Amino acid sequence: MDLSSSTQNPEKKEYSSVCVGREDALKKSERMTAVVHDREVVIFYHKGEYHAMDIRCYHSGGPLHLGEIEDFDGRSCIVCPWHKYKITLATGEGLYQSIDPKDPSAKPTWCSKGIKQRIHTVTVDNGNIYVTLSTEPFKCDSDFYATGIFKVIQTSL
Ligand code: FES
Repeated sequence: MDLSSSTQNPEKKEYSSVCVGREDALKKSERMTAVVHDREVVIFYHKGEYHAMDIRCYHSGGPLHLGEIEDFDGRSCIVCPWHKYKITLATGEGLYQSIDPKDPSAKPTWCSKGIKQRIHTVTVDNGNIYVTLSTEPFKCDSDFYATGIFKVIQTSL
């Protein structure tokens, strides 16, 4: 893998890895934002692991880099500051609580809406953090706010 190049090959629809910062700085700040091949992403360092995702929430484009991280059903999630949607850091799934209408007294259970937020790959090499954009060929809801007229570049925390 060529870690130094930041070019995109549109033929193969593959993206090269882009260096976004230093590992020691991210471990200290626990989150950072970056523009990777014209796509704005947020990178988290949480519980010893790195996670990168589209910065704008799949629901209405909220700023996920300003959300709190909390555990729900044993899964670490970023909670969108706008309407409190919960998105798993590891997979980009939207989580929600459901009750059984036939048994409304039962405890609500956590359920997944499936992958809603596009997750990107984070690698570390020689103390540098690299992000490789996802090219998974499925329509992800967060793509809507990551491209076109809704894309707003504002990377400072
Ligand atoms: Fe994120 Fe609505 S914009 S929950």
